[in-house]
Amino acid sequence: MRLVHDAAALEAALAEHDGRRAVVMTMGALHDGHLSLVQYARQRADHVVVTVFVNPLQFGPSEDLDQYPRDLPGDLAALAPALHDDDVVYAPSVREMYPDGPPQVQVAAGPVGDVLEGAVRPGHFDGVLTVVLKLLGRTRPDIAVFGAKDAQQVAAIRAMVRDLDVNVAVVEAPTVREPDGLAMSSRNAYLSAADRERATGLWRALEAGRQAAQAGAGATEVVAAARTVVAEATDVVDYVALVDESFAPVGAGTHGPVRLVLAARLGTTRLIDNAMVVL
Ligand code: PAJ
Repeated sequence: MRLVHDAAALEAALAEHDGRRAVVMTMGALHDGHLSLVQYARQRADHVVVTVFVNPLQFGPSEDLDQYPRDLPGDLAALAPALHDDDVVYAPSVREMYPDGPPQVQVAAGPVGDVLEGAVRPGHFDGVLTVVLKLLGRTRPDIAVFGAKDAQQVAAIRAMVRDLDVNVAVVEAPTVREPDGLAMSSRNAYLSAADRERATGLWRALEAGRQAAQAGAGATEVVAAARTVVAEATDVVDYVALVDESFAPVGAGTHGPVRLVLAARLGTTRLIDNAMVVL
């Protein structure tokens, strides 16, 4: 793999290839969920660019920007088996991405940025979209792969790509889970042993919702079934909801595939998860 830190070196590395290019954007602290995106990208392109950048713009003032795990040597070791010699890892500094501080022009996520994750984390999706657009501009991929684990992020990125005519195919790869169902996340490392046990409540809640839907329950009962399970396992439930592909809430009489999304806190750690259910 080629490791580059600045736009000029990235440009030179990209100029060496003319095949189909895929990008996988990450904030590092890589786990098997991230690596599955790299495999997914590999199957759909001739070469892969992985970006590693903890984006300050998407963290709120009281969030975990400072504590967010950073381990570039560990990330490179994790990526080595998955990447080919001519694949590229782009790991810019904050100064490299934002030389004059936060950019004067930023992307506004619109309605998808105001609900659920966006309501709990105001401005988060504006920060995500701003860095994603910059990284798309710098890496100029044919396809960009994102994880279903952060489904609202995928919906926000799809809306940006559609509304601003960004020339890239956005691909959603499935969520990778621990054997007990917990979705892999860099933030799982914050959990105490006891909270790690309780954290399976998110997955069990999604399963409860799915089972309720299978048994013929409507939207309201599916949400209630999931809420009961996640509320029992966690300290604070931020939301449990059923949404359509653009993250608008689904009505009580809806039929067909919809997404069950939830977020909860264990101590100071906030976890999210989601799954498709068929009403
Ligand atoms: P990060 O949280 O590092 O996640 C990078 C990518 O990995 C995202 O597309 C995320 O959905 C995906 N991912 C995380 N956990 C996953 C899992 N268990 N299974 C499958 N995919 C998983 O998301 C971000 O970074 C940032 O917001 C970013 C898009 C890089 C912009 O800063």
